[in-house]
Amino acid sequence: MPGTELFGKEERKEVMDVLETGVLFRYNNDEARKGIWKAKTFEKEFADFHGVKHCHMVSSGTAADNVSLAAAGIGAGDEVIVPTFTFIAPVEAVVNCGAIPVFAEIDKTLCLSPEGIEAVITPKTKAIMLVHMVGAMAKLDEIIAICKKYNLVLIEDTAQALGGSYKRKPLGSYGDISCYSFDFFKIITAGEGGAVITNNDEIYEKAHTWSDHGHSHIGNNRGAEEHPILGTNYRISELHAAVGLAQFRKIDFIIENQRANKKVLKDYLKKFSQVTFRELPDEAGDSGTVINIFLPTAEEAERVAGEMAEAGLNAAYWYNNNYHYIKNWEHLKEMKTAAPVGLQFFDNLQDYKTVKFPVSDDIISRLVSIYVKIMWTDEELKDICDKFDQVLGK
Ligand SMILES: Cc1ncc(COP(=O)(O)O)c(C=O)c1O
Repeated sequence: MPGTELFGKEERKEVMDVLETGVLFRYNNDEARKGIWKAKTFEKEFADFHGVKHCHMVSSGTAADNVSLAAAGIGAGDEVIVPTFTFIAPVEAVVNCGAIPVFAEIDKTLCLSPEGIEAVITPKTKAIMLVHMVGAMAKLDEIIAICKKYNLVLIEDTAQALGGSYKRKPLGSYGDISCYSFDFFKIITAGEGGAVITNNDEIYEKAHTWSDHGHSHIGNNRGAEEHPILGTNYRISELHAAVGLAQFRKIDFIIENQRANKKVLKDYLKKFSQVTFRELPDEAGDSGTVINIFLPTAEEAERVAGEMAEAGLNAAYWYNNNYHYIKNWEHLKEMKTAAPVGLQFFDNLQDYKTVKFPVSDDIISRLVSIYVKIMWTDEELKDICDKFDQVLGK
């Protein structure tokens, strides 16, 4: 949980600015807020960092997924290609906007593979929900070429790879629209919060209006604003934006330290012949927040992850996890939803109960992810290497 390692006076100062004006709402109240605009400031700095025209802050990463789809015009009956390995939020967002998730295989980048994507494209495919999983990037060049070839919208879910880049351009700046999460477990945290970024003026207009009941956000009289579309409420509060802003100003420090600590540990792991690493299309752009290793068999990976966790490391074995890999998504396979959704009315669905993903199964069953801390000392890094010896030297 990197961002949480760095809570300090900066976060307190930003929050106190807001509490002192009493304006917890991100819009309007121009006089009372005395020039304090945390969400707006965070948006400007986040867009500048990514080299894009627009950023809109929202209440969570899941909200950002939903906003991305709506703003990009994805809706009832559209097919959206999603990975088998992802936190489930982007898949739920596809279901909840009335569209159809179509799962495709991943590769050793741990993200959607170009071959996997091409294998499931149909005339109804509208978008690719590309999730840059556990800290780093997919094969962006190839996937962008597929989007161009088939005229597909590219959504980059960069919730797990903020600060990463590909060919020196930030992850998230390649898509038509991209989403981020600032929940408690992310590279920076606002407690809860999220963002979308885009270079497309039309998509941006839909993003900020849709996530606030259609408000045009012009003028200082909320009740009198135009409402070009129906929407919903995914607004971020000024308090969350304040924490997120302070955290975001630490991003360079976070990425630099994560990368340095990861390098020490990854270099050490290279001595174990049974260990191989996640493929990185651009290693220099890795956010450094996770070390992802493969073991030769599923049994060995499960043992290693279990023993690393017992030794006090933050190590994950995703194959058995209920939220990050399709294998355990019984609710999806049984199509259990709170109320009927588009899925239950369309006949062009994958058979979620029986569809097989042998490539993904092989990759995820042998994967162990070890989370990297920002503030590890040399002594702690040495201690972790000793733990690697104990677990992998058997
Ligand atoms: C890839 C990805 N997308 C979206 C989300 C959803 O973010 P949030 O928890 O802020 O709703 C997460 C959260 O873990 C995530 O990992």
